[in-house]
Amino acid sequence: MRKKVILITGAAGEIGQALVHQLSEAEPDLILTLDLSDMPPDIAPLCTHIKGSITDKSLLDRLVSEYEIDVIFHLAALLSTRAEYSPVAAHQVNVEGTLGLLELAAEQSQWRGKPVQFIYPSSIAVYGMPDLETKAAHPRVQQWEWNNPTTMYGANKLYGEQLGTYYSRNYKQLAEKEPVKLDFRAVRFPGLVSAFTAPSGGTSDYGPEMLHAAAKGEPYACFVRPDTTIPFMAMPDGVKALLDLVNVPLSALSRTVYNVTAFSLSADDFRTRVLAAFPEAQITFEPHAKRQAIVDSWPMDADDQPAREDWGWQPEYDVERSFNDYLIPNIRARYAK
Ligand code: SER
Repeated sequence: MRKKVILITGAAGEIGQALVHQLSEAEPDLILTLDLSDMPPDIAPLCTHIKGSITDKSLLDRLVSEYEIDVIFHLAALLSTRAEYSPVAAHQVNVEGTLGLLELAAEQSQWRGKPVQFIYPSSIAVYGMPDLETKAAHPRVQQWEWNNPTTMYGANKLYGEQLGTYYSRNYKQLAEKEPVKLDFRAVRFPGLVSAFTAPSGGTSDYGPEMLHAAAKGEPYACFVRPDTTIPFMAMPDGVKALLDLVNVPLSALSRTVYNVTAFSLSADDFRTRVLAAFPEAQITFEPHAKRQAIVDSWPMDADDQPAREDWGWQPEYDVERSFNDYLIPNIRARYAK
């Protein structure tokens, strides 16, 4: 008998580490993780880890022959800044890698006669506001508005949403016998901020970078203007969104893709909050024109009403709680060690 597992790709990344922690507390099924890197030592005992790439077809074939994959959290991706330096690699991982996993999930759904759940983190990077006036005039965007990403990563994520939706709704629609289709569910995340890990390769990274630098006593030059505003979310809410979404009955979902958000903050507000906790912090602004343009193309806020209505989405951490109860105390403890 194949062992039933929950597969997490990109598990050594920021969301992955937090998700493994949380899942391992409740989950009787085996947690199988896949990443190019080793899992950090404190998390390694909580999962069975395979070091490798989601683009390695023979590795995926091996997985399917050994395990019954019940749920996939497909977190592996090259983020928005990194993807601009290697767009082809980004496409290979973000699009072709996603396609390979959707194929795997489609086959597994068929083989076991029951949909595999495919949980996909998308991003505010799927939006592309044409200019700052438009961004200011449309502060809270609907899911379907301004879906004109300017980055490779944003384009990849938007297409990933569409691919997943195809596999779960219309896969092989002309086949005589209708296949058992996988169950694809996506959330569009704002910038995620973790107290336990520092981000790399993203463009919303200035927020968390500012905070981690201050806690370490290092000076930080923020790469966007003080007025730059996008939505953010504390990592525990990011994990909560993924786990809430897994647990909703399919019949409650009116769509496959949901915006989720927690609070919006300008880079200057972020700095003020960091300074309140670390008054000695040296945080300056040295905007990088091109990274600035990427963040300017992302909306100030996203409407997450459908997630609230369909599956009761509600962040537990507003901006006050995020900083006061989660980020500041945990980050202090982390760097005090
Ligand atoms: N945090 C991501 C990035 O900056 C956006 O999804 O690329």
